[in-house]
Amino acid sequence: HHVAVTHARQHTIQVVAHRGASEDVPEHTLAAYVKAIEDGADALECDVRLTADGHLVCVHDRRVNRTSNGRGAVSALELADLAALDFGSWRDRGDSTEAPDWSDPEYTSVLTLERLLELVADAGRRVELAIETKHPTRWAGQVEERLVRLLRRFNLADPPTPGESAVRIMSFSPRSLIRVAAAVPTVPTVYLAQFVAPRVREGRLPARARIAGPSIRIIRNHPGYVERLHEAGLQVHVWTVDAPEDVELCVRLGVDAIITNRPGQVLSQLGRA
Ligand code: G3P
Ligand code: CA
Repeated sequence: HHVAVTHARQHTIQVVAHRGASEDVPEHTLAAYVKAIEDGADALECDVRLTADGHLVCVHDRRVNRTSNGRGAVSALELADLAALDFGSWRDRGDSTEAPDWSDPEYTSVLTLERLLELVADAGRRVELAIETKHPTRWAGQVEERLVRLLRRFNLADPPTPGESAVRIMSFSPRSLIRVAAAVPTVPTVYLAQFVAPRVREGRLPARARIAGPSIRIIRNHPGYVERLHEAGLQVHVWTVDAPEDVELCVRLGVDAIITNRPGQVLSQLGRA
């Protein structure tokens, strides 16, 4: 027997595009996600909120004020109201090297989760999706209900095992994760946290989530944290990792996913682009 067997375990860090390739392109626009896919991102992150007429849209803040030319809470506006707003031009500093066409709706239209799911389905390669539910508790389960309905429509609700799922649901809200886990038990959940929590350290996450989502600040201040989480049987997905030295730290500590606004640069730092 002269078969050489290599046991070097290739631990590939998943690169997740935070709000799309949002360093280059207005966050949460279709163009930001198209760019992230072109850049080679393994997964896309998006925040979802419910409109007044029950549509899930990809908007981070409670209000549309920062990222559009409109005003008011997403929850008080209907999809048609949001569709009339410009979600891109606020980023037009007139100094872009690859000046986008600001009249192209891909750069300026509000993005529905449905449209993002279509984009991923048509990507031509496996692109995973990490969907974050934002302040979902006041909606008494409506956000999760709509979300699960969409996952079913796109045949993403029943992966045989969590490891095979192309989608995962993230939240700072334990209640939201519990609702998701009850409806779609094999879709993985990610418990996001800004602070070190003893329960998390011991591997006790809400909804029996097996993925912890700490901020890079936690990782910088507590370098032993990743190892602790791994020992507790959890995966570790860190946000938001943009600085090269932070990417370096994440590589050294062996995190499982890096969530970044600049997927192209991170992939080239990792030698994958
Ligand atoms: O990926 C998690 C991260 O996005 C959480 O923070 O405020 O950017 O949604 P935020
Ligand atoms: Ca987010």
